[in-house]
Amino acid sequence: MTQELTTSARAAARAAAPARAPQPSTGLDDSPRPARPPEPTDAGWWRDAVIYQVYVRSFADSDGDGVGDLRGVRERLPHLARLGVDAVWLTPFYASPQADGGYDVADYRAVDPLFGDLSDADALVRAAHRLGLRVIVDIVPNHTSDRHPWFTAALAAEPGSAARARYHFRPGRGGDGALPPNDWESVFGGPAWTRTENPDGTPGDWYLHLFAPEQPDLNWDCPEVVEEFDSVLRFWLDLGVDGFRIDVAHGMVKAAGLPDIGHKEQAKLIGAQVLPFFDQDGVHEIHRSWRRLLDSYDGDRIGVAEAWAPSAERLALYVRPDELHQAFNFHFLRCPWDAAAMRSVIDESLGATASVGAPTTWVLSNHDVVRHTTRYAEESPEQGLRRARAAALLMLALPGSTYIYQGEELGLPEVVDLPDEVRQDPAFFRSFTEDGQSGQDGFRDGCRVPIPWSGSEAPYGFGPVAGGPSWLPQPDGWAALSVEAQTGDPSSTLELYRSAIALRRRLPGLGDGTMAWLDGPAAPEGVLALSRPGFVCTLNTLGHPVEMPAPGRPVLSSAPAEFEGRSVRIPADCCVWWAI
Ligand code: GLC
Repeated sequence: MTQELTTSARAAARAAAPARAPQPSTGLDDSPRPARPPEPTDAGWWRDAVIYQVYVRSFADSDGDGVGDLRGVRERLPHLARLGVDAVWLTPFYASPQADGGYDVADYRAVDPLFGDLSDADALVRAAHRLGLRVIVDIVPNHTSDRHPWFTAALAAEPGSAARARYHFRPGRGGDGALPPNDWESVFGGPAWTRTENPDGTPGDWYLHLFAPEQPDLNWDCPEVVEEFDSVLRFWLDLGVDGFRIDVAHGMVKAAGLPDIGHKEQAKLIGAQVLPFFDQDGVHEIHRSWRRLLDSYDGDRIGVAEAWAPSAERLALYVRPDELHQAFNFHFLRCPWDAAAMRSVIDESLGATASVGAPTTWVLSNHDVVRHTTRYAEESPEQGLRRARAAALLMLALPGSTYIYQGEELGLPEVVDLPDEVRQDPAFFRSFTEDGQSGQDGFRDGCRVPIPWSGSEAPYGFGPVAGGPSWLPQPDGWAALSVEAQTGDPSSTLELYRSAIALRRRLPGLGDGTMAWLDGPAAPEGVLALSRPGFVCTLNTLGHPVEMPAPGRPVLSSAPAEFEGRSVRIPADCCVWWAI
């Protein structure tokens, strides 16, 4: 980050290209859909794109070290093309000590050797484009790694120095400065401040970290920080990426004076209140300037905010016409399995984004939350899977863009019985540092277990060798959930996703546009019925079948429905798509 960039990103990537042995074929029949590289003229492609999240370390391991890598992603792109998605979002693969799965970046312009090198990133972007897939990369602007050259320089520098001004250093409170500068808590549990040591070994100032101590927060009032991130964005845009998922997009600006909050358990307030460290109005200026930068490139490059805002209205501010293109809709993700609650979350989300002319995004799972197959399983895993399949059809029928988290197309559940000694999530460890479990709720390793591709023995095609390693152990029984096992089985979750995404592409009423709720006999108690041009989607959220008039010709169903004359019996927790 400190070094001057003398060559373009792509030239740097080519220079770094190593010679590689050819890899064995995967043996999977993943014939891609007809490929058409993204065209710069596809304006607004993101308004209804289906975007697939690749958690790089758990997607595909090409070199057998047990950790997924960029070459692994490239080799498996045909799976994504066949699934029919429009774009891929890659979680951070930058040089990092991996204190928080790569969300602690030590060099924003380098690929961590765990994941490959710049030539792999370049090859991946080009291969994706050849298959008609766009590529979005993660950018982590709220904090760096504590091993970033800027932070090591700051630690070595004097209080009040320019090197320290890039972060938030403050003297402690109390007579001897032994108390943190304010009462802010880390999202991962414990105080949001860590005390430094002076060169002579005496205790020094404190620094702010809203996440782990290895993730010091940057000071966005410092012009150097602003300039550096502009340059980093350009580096990846020059390499050809189609946009950025902006990590903690609501966190870069802190309230002036860093005021106390006044009470504990602040993590519970995230997404429920404007806090002095989250969702401050000042962040919008940064997003506006990034939008100008994105617009200066061809090809409709996008910015997607990971922003936890207290209301749909405040979230919509991030996607005003001169700001970012999308913001993850976590209100939908958090919605319980209840028809009335879902309907009101959908209405609120659509209303708020429509007020600023932006599309809504829908997301059910990601690398930070318990997989929805398990979240929905109040009574049994079967119930969870039934609901997850139905929720996928609801989500793909809604207006706007959809995010799919790797493995949800396989119906993967959360792995809930990982032994403590294999866990790596810093939130898990920090939850035990204070009085009881004050950290982020739910530990995040269980949704990050490497996904199964083929074969009968772990790592199920995740790595190149049967019996080889995987950084988190996969459960017995995942052979039946692999891409290979589900391919061609019309009742499988994978084939359901493939059919749904293909239909969504074909039916003109789906994707971007409008929707209306149907009421009366078309939507009995517990059933959500939404109509779009030439199309109806009915979701039975109840635990028993519902009989109702068939609204049209059935085209897809998350479970077998029964038809008699003009009526239909929709099974428990089932979603049906209709052409009308
Ligand atoms: C975001 C990421 C999460 C990470 C955190 C800190 O919430 O999704 O995985 O731990 O930011 O960077």
